[in-house]
Amino acid sequence: MLILTKTAGVFFKPSKRKVYEFLRSFNFHPGTLFLHKIVLGIETSCDDTAAAVVDETGNVLGEAIHSQTEVHLKTGGIVPPVAQQLHRENIQRIVQEALSASRISSSDLSAIATTIKPGLALSLGVGLSFSLQLVGQLKKPFIPIHHMEAHALTIRLTNKVEFPFLVLLISGGHCLLALVQGVSDFLLLGKSLDIAPGDMLDKVARRLSLIKHPECSTMSGGKAIEHLAKQGNRFHFDIKPPLHRAKNCDFSFTGLQHVTDKIIMKKEKEEGIEKGQILSSAADIAATVQHTMACHLVKRTHRAILFCKQRDLLPQNNAVLVASGGVASNFYIRKALEILTNATQCTLLCPPPRLCTDNGIMIAWNGIERLRAGSGILHDIEGIRYEPKCPLGVDISKEVGEASIKVPQLKMEI
Ligand code: KG4
Ligand code: ZN
Repeated sequence: MLILTKTAGVFFKPSKRKVYEFLRSFNFHPGTLFLHKIVLGIETSCDDTAAAVVDETGNVLGEAIHSQTEVHLKTGGIVPPVAQQLHRENIQRIVQEALSASRISSSDLSAIATTIKPGLALSLGVGLSFSLQLVGQLKKPFIPIHHMEAHALTIRLTNKVEFPFLVLLISGGHCLLALVQGVSDFLLLGKSLDIAPGDMLDKVARRLSLIKHPECSTMSGGKAIEHLAKQGNRFHFDIKPPLHRAKNCDFSFTGLQHVTDKIIMKKEKEEGIEKGQILSSAADIAATVQHTMACHLVKRTHRAILFCKQRDLLPQNNAVLVASGGVASNFYIRKALEILTNATQCTLLCPPPRLCTDNGIMIAWNGIERLRAGSGILHDIEGIRYEPKCPLGVDISKEVGEASIKVPQLKMEI
């Protein structure tokens, strides 16, 4: 739509928000009359209270987020009742801020989408009960969202990506490889057998007491490791990537964490310092852990690409690999994945870092995707529950392991 500006005397293409404001001044209700669908997304699955208003074309009309990272850094990890309390204290304000920033009226919303699985039970509960109350008040449809599906589909908001594509989801609570065939059509190729990579990085960062490091005191563990690793030498220590012999797409990070713990203990002895003080070799340790983790992620993803191509699940050329989730905001890991995509004639796509970590935009966008696909939209919210544990898609990881694909060695010069 073009609007003539009297002052400038030229035609210009106004922002979506301006169009809504303009229409509202004539008492139009864009959501209900002729403009795009608009969804309010609410996310509280872990330690971020986030909300956003997104329209059908992917315009972010309003957004707000309250991060609990600094609080949980002080307690040395997420304490679920504390997270729950902070969600309770902030959710109303955050949703209100997102709505106000969007300048639309809540009656213009087409639906409300909220993360209901998987995640921390106490955290999910706050978002769900708040959303259901709002759904009742506004008489809008409700769209329950799977947190990992939302991470996977975020790329379709930022880039033009068609199905199918491969996705590597790496966060503080999850690690999985999946083939995305449709909005709610996922094939699970592999997942972590123990902890998630973000969890491992958070634990290593805590063990290295990076909260006391002047440059990283407010950063999440993973971000602190990435930051410090830039000053370190990854060749200083040698750690073998996990699951070296298992020819599947599963992951493991507990072993890497334990080996790193041992290195830290040895170094503390050598440097004659107590646990809780910062090692002079902290940056080298961070660089080694980050590199070993990147190699492990690349190896499993490489096998997933070969498997999908072998089964014609992905095109032979220009297949898309998407990396998302908090750990995918790490640029060292992105570079490592780029080496892989260059070697396999694929394209690597990652959402911008702020859309890799938890946010309300990805939830609202997943709501839009569902509205467009006409699936998973509830008009009756009776009996809806949150689910702390919930698998993603159809699990074909056994089949992947049985294919026993050998992966060629790549030179990981990052
Ligand atoms: O996706 P996310 O915000 O929340 C979960 O669903 O888990 O991911 C949070 C995780 C944390 O473990 C954090 O340490 C890690 O992502 N993370 C990073 C970076 N930024 C956040 N890990 C590596 N490098 C980063 N730059
Ligand atoms: Zn997440």
